[in-house]
Amino acid sequence: MSIKKAVLPVAGLGTRFLPASKSIPKEMVTVVDRPVIDYVVQEAIAAGIEQIILVTHSSKRAIEDYFDSHYELEDTLQKKNKLELLQVIQNIIPKHIDVVAVRQPQPLGLGHAVLCAKSVIGNEPFAVLLPDVLVKNAGIATGAPHDLQQMISYYNQTRHAQIMVEQVAPELVSQYGVVDIGGQTLDAGQSLQLNGIVEKPKINEAPSRLAVVGRYVLPSRILSLLEQTSPGAGGEIQLTDAIAALMHEEFVDAYRMSGKTYDCGSKMGYLEAILSYGIDHPELGKDFFNLIQQSLK
Ligand code: G1P
Repeated sequence: MSIKKAVLPVAGLGTRFLPASKSIPKEMVTVVDRPVIDYVVQEAIAAGIEQIILVTHSSKRAIEDYFDSHYELEDTLQKKNKLELLQVIQNIIPKHIDVVAVRQPQPLGLGHAVLCAKSVIGNEPFAVLLPDVLVKNAGIATGAPHDLQQMISYYNQTRHAQIMVEQVAPELVSQYGVVDIGGQTLDAGQSLQLNGIVEKPKINEAPSRLAVVGRYVLPSRILSLLEQTSPGAGGEIQLTDAIAALMHEEFVDAYRMSGKTYDCGSKMGYLEAILSYGIDHPELGKDFFNLIQQSLK
């Protein structure tokens, strides 16, 4: 069974991005001309996902509106003969993609957020994409598979859950889920079996510097395990703890990403994303690059 569903937990209030996130969902902040969430949804669609499940909150309706059609706007663009723009907004979500929203009534953690999507996920394996994190793969334009595609392909070959990791600086490990691969070497684009996973370890207790960075491919069994998971780090129901429980039943693999991440939930990560996506933008990139050069003089 291939992976057709993706869960995007977007209920978080984005305290790292205040004051902007007071009235704009942090996922709706724009990188060049599209909200952050758009890039994450396009990444999922490029990996073959057909149903996007937003786990959301009442203060974040703008996200659902973005993926809905906007009749008045479309009608106006049509009448004014602005057909290119009309196409742009009509193509935000291709016709075969279904966007569904469920609510997370209380902020009880990432594991709890995923569990809120249980009835929509059903008995299928699924992907989880954390919407703060943009993943940029260099070879996309040339048709090379991007990281999520690669993870899904490994899942299809092995039926092992795939957890995307990247090496982080030692002082940052305590902010992440961290994997134990028993001292083996894990090259970019490769996947290997985990020995353990722990949420936000202290630096001297971390099993490695390979941090979980926001992309998962999981079997539906994780949902029953989440139901039995007690609050862990930070008093929250942690997806990491349910993954650790899954490892007692079946193989779980760490996949080392080959692209680069941008943490748009943090201000510096967001600025870095603007630079990178701005410079690579097909229409604006060249001028933007010149602008940066001039402003540095
Ligand atoms: C969550 C996960 C953590 C992961 C991180 C990636 O933590 O619980 O395992 O490493 O996302 O961004 P959060 O950042 O929500 O505290």
